[in-house]
Amino acid sequence: MGIEKIIEYYKNPKNRGKIENPDAIGEEIGSCGDTMAFFVKIGKKKVDGKEVDYIKDIKFDTLGCAVAVASASATTELVKGKTIPEAKKISEQDIAKKLGDIPEAKFHCIDLTLGTLRNTINNWEKKNKK
Ligand code: FES
Repeated sequence: MGIEKIIEYYKNPKNRGKIENPDAIGEEIGSCGDTMAFFVKIGKKKVDGKEVDYIKDIKFDTLGCAVAVASASATTELVKGKTIPEAKKISEQDIAKKLGDIPEAKFHCIDLTLGTLRNTINNWEKKNKK
């Protein structure tokens, strides 16, 4: 059930905190006024013999609600180790699926998470002129 998953993540968040000297930071303010930030370290790995950028480490910080903490935790688990194009494809549904049943009224908390992730990746791409 979604509620149990959310409580579990809220009590024991994954990857909450900051990264020293991150390669990029992304922030967002949700429609509710709550804030979130992601910090990432980008590494290089070989995929099909080609060197690609991937999310080596990611942490989050939020002043958001329990669903925001849970969806940010779930998102860090979803994108850690993923290449940048893979991480860009993460959708609201992917996050919601990982959390279980989310009441529709709480979907804006997932939107806040996804917006923060996209800002983080955009900031990294801008910095690296991708
Ligand atoms: Fe603001 Fe959930 S109510 S992030």
